[in-house]
Amino acid sequence: MAKIISGQELSETMRSEIASDAAEFHSESGMAPGLAVVLVGADPASEVYVRMKGKAADKAGFVSRQVTLPPETPEDELLGVVAGLNADPSIHGILVQLPLPKHIDSARVLLAIDPDKDVDGFHPMNAGRLAVGDESVLAPCTPAGIIEMLMRSGYDPSGRHVVVVGRSNIVGKPVALLLLRKGRGGNATVTIAHSRTKDLGAITRQADILIAAVGRANLITGDMVKPGAVVIDVGVNRVDDPASSKGYRLVGDVAFDEVAEVAEAITPVPGGVGPMTITMLLRNTVDAARRLHAADAARGAFAD
Ligand code: GUN
Repeated sequence: MAKIISGQELSETMRSEIASDAAEFHSESGMAPGLAVVLVGADPASEVYVRMKGKAADKAGFVSRQVTLPPETPEDELLGVVAGLNADPSIHGILVQLPLPKHIDSARVLLAIDPDKDVDGFHPMNAGRLAVGDESVLAPCTPAGIIEMLMRSGYDPSGRHVVVVGRSNIVGKPVALLLLRKGRGGNATVTIAHSRTKDLGAITRQADILIAAVGRANLITGDMVKPGAVVIDVGVNRVDDPASSKGYRLVGDVAFDEVAEVAEAITPVPGGVGPMTITMLLRNTVDAARRLHAADAARGAFAD
């Protein structure tokens, strides 16, 4: 039976480190790190995520602000809200919860966020900085969380063959770029597979570390995993479960029971990658706060 890599436990450790960093920032700057989360509409899953992000930020000693707008909010009004948060010195991190309603152009909204406050790492400026290997970039939270899970569990990807299944801008592409960086958590040999890949199993069986991020329940079965591989499951899929009070349960992209028989280590769903995403959001917010404050202080010194 594989070792379970608990994102829940790692998150508890990391969130207390982050809370200390936030307290240090507070005493140096006179203000707490500030995180604004913008939600448009009333998608139940998004409401849950946004509430969890706000609670985690409060617990770490941040100032958290939630801006909730009705589903019919015009794009220009949302852009106005983002502009206000960009200009607000008490806010260091801005996150616009995705997906946005169909009448809003998400790309335009992401482009409007100040890249220095883009704690999701979704702005094209930050995506580009990640692609050129910038070590100090605000990296997308789920990919950054995956790297931390590997490093803190003793599975440094350096020199290993990592197969990423999924090519999204939120997980697949950025995690591949992080794994290719020359610094900590990088130096891997990376293969990206996706929904159009032929004979997926032939590729995934080559992986020392397998990252599944496609959003298809139980796609990765035991026969697709090399014995001794480390398996990271990013999927969150609802499957019908009449035995559950909700009528459904959450499962990953990996058929957990059978893959756990083959793998050296595996992340569970829930309690794996999910909590790490929020943890890295807090990490990015403290990092953004420190940099914005240092830049402000440098401008102040120059003005003197
Ligand atoms: N929707 C699902 N995951 C995320 C995320 O990490 N950030 C944002 N902004 N929206 C999401």
